Amino acid sequence: MSSASADPTTPAEPTTAERPRILSGMQPTSDSLHLGNYLGALVNWVGLQEEFDAYYFVADLHALTVPTDPEVLRRRTRITAAQFIAGGVDPERSSVFVQSHLHEHPALGWVMGCLTAFGEASRMTQFKDKTSKGQNANVGLFTYPMLMAADILMYDAAYVPVGEDQRQHLEITRDLALRFNQRFGDGLVVPEPYILKEGAKIMDLTEPTSKMSGSTSPEKGLILLSDEPGRIAKKIRAAVTDTDGEVRYDPDAKAGVSNLLVIHSILSGRRIEEIERDFVGRGYGDLKKEVAEIVVTALEPFQTRMAELLGDPAELDRIVARGAERAHEVARRTVARVYDRMGLLPPVPRADRV
Ligand code: TRP
Repeated sequence: MSSASADPTTPAEPTTAERPRILSGMQPTSDSLHLGNYLGALVNWVGLQEEFDAYYFVADLHALTVPTDPEVLRRRTRITAAQFIAGGVDPERSSVFVQSHLHEHPALGWVMGCLTAFGEASRMTQFKDKTSKGQNANVGLFTYPMLMAADILMYDAAYVPVGEDQRQHLEITRDLALRFNQRFGDGLVVPEPYILKEGAKIMDLTEPTSKMSGSTSPEKGLILLSDEPGRIAKKIRAAVTDTDGEVRYDPDAKAGVSNLLVIHSILSGRRIEEIERDFVGRGYGDLKKEVAEIVVTALEPFQTRMAELLGDPAELDRIVARGAERAHEVARRTVARVYDRMGLLPPVPRADRV
């Protein structure tokens, strides 16, 4: 084998599309994405699908690492897929699918687990954080990063757009790809992280020094993409500000007002200084009213599309089925290649069996 001189970044199977591949996923852990997910991640996904051959999936197998009611998981999986599409992911252009629809994911996840040292897995900070906070961990939570590595390496992804919190998972993914290539000959693409910029960091409305977070923010601190206009206005009206009364961007001294200015600026497309100028001599009440209007208007097309998608679950299921079919074309070849390189015998095709 010529593995020693091979460039491990060369895909073993050249991608058919001219655009390089990217892949990302989200867990179906809530009944709605919030404005922070939307502006921090989904908007980037949408932009990237022009330049890249994108694979976006709902990580429902990862969601099993935390006990969830089956009915709730089913509902959230559909909602998450629908939100990708309502947010602008085009299922004709990008592959939108559900992780559990491809048995190749856990199959490659097993392989990744067998390439990972026990101590290496034990050093993953997310596992350590969750278990130190008293979460009653299952083995799935421990092997979570190996399944994630499989998700990524399955598609020869060149880049993986994720938030900073996923950086360590990408590092172990790269280590595993390099290790595989070294031991078994060049077969997996080593992905580059594409850490999404913190430019669009949206803060909790009730506690503007913490990030808006589906897992830690109170409901009043979140602007959910599914919130009705009246609810959005109410939450923004109740947002924590300060007492000096001046509409000015200063994230250290005036975190609440600054957060409202950031939201305004991103959604209105205007520069923060311009907005500040508009509000000279005006109070926070006015600012909140305007921000609420802008958020409501920005979310209107999203909410209309969501209602259509959730109103026709059969159509939504067809969309993700098509996505899974496209993903499967790539996934089955990756698993066959990896199994073969490692010495697993190819199955005898059924038709040849006696
Ligand atoms: N761990 C990711 C999260 O919680 C979700 C995820 C699973 C993912 N597999 C992935 C993200 C592969 C990117 C690529 O946000």
